[in-house]
Amino acid sequence: MSKVIAVTSGKGGTGKSTIATGLAVSLINRGNTVLIIDCDAGMRSLDILLGVSEQVVFDISDVVRGFCTIDNAVYKCPQDNKLYLIPAPHNADETLSPEIFKKAVQVLKRRFDYVIVDAPAGIGLGFETAVAPADLVLVIANTEPTSLRGCGNVRVRLGELNKNKMRLIINKFNYRDFKNEAIYYNLDEIIDIAGIQLLGIVPEDKYFAAITQRGELIEDVTDAVKALDCIAARIEGESVPLSVI
Ligand SMILES: Nc1ncnc2c1ncn2[C@@H]1O[C@H](COP(=O)(O)OP(=O)(O)OP(=O)(O)O)[C@@H](O)[C@H]1O
Ligand SMILES: [Mg+2]
Repeated sequence: MSKVIAVTSGKGGTGKSTIATGLAVSLINRGNTVLIIDCDAGMRSLDILLGVSEQVVFDISDVVRGFCTIDNAVYKCPQDNKLYLIPAPHNADETLSPEIFKKAVQVLKRRFDYVIVDAPAGIGLGFETAVAPADLVLVIANTEPTSLRGCGNVRVRLGELNKNKMRLIINKFNYRDFKNEAIYYNLDEIIDIAGIQLLGIVPEDKYFAAITQRGELIEDVTDAVKALDCIAARIEGESVPLSVI
């Protein structure tokens, strides 16, 4: 079973942080404890999405530089007592090396059922660091051609890094626009362009996105929540049919 899951994308803004948050909640609802690590140095956002921005003092770079203990940098999120966050550093130049980050996660993963790592966009050093400890890499894409091309770049880079267990999540999927715009005629074509096995499709869901942005608990079972619950079940080895909600 995959325990350390990195959430990545070629292009920015595809929904990595939103999916990381929603997936964590779905895994918690299945009885797991989850630690999310924000690896987007200089552009951190998960402290807002998880409602702990007011409390944050230490981050992951403080842990590895010995400025604080691991416990000082692990923040319990108000949404659930099984959900924890280690924030990203304030400055982009504090990106950790992949080797150091991998060692830190090896220690942390003993304490949680899952560790979800939210990567920065693209395939630079921050991406390499984020995927280094992962045994499953989720690549988040939207249906636009530019987003799919970014996916291809991520797939190639992951192959070079010997990170071969990767799965595609199509996020912000809007079936009506997708059909009307007719950029691609079917999902098979999208999956072919991305070149990555599909794990799930998360619909465009403005309510879910707004609640997440406010750092509040997603209590309603919206379409995006249903899709994320199916993705969490598949990650845990259940055979759940793929559907476009
Ligand atoms: N399924 C969805 N439906 C509607 N809006 C969504 C969905 N997923 C994400 N969003 C919205 O898309 C925007 C980008 O999301 P998010 O910040 O999670 O992307 P990201 O990939 O982490 O971005 P970055 O590359 O900057 O880190 C946000 O406004 C978010 O609320
Ligand atoms: Mg993000």
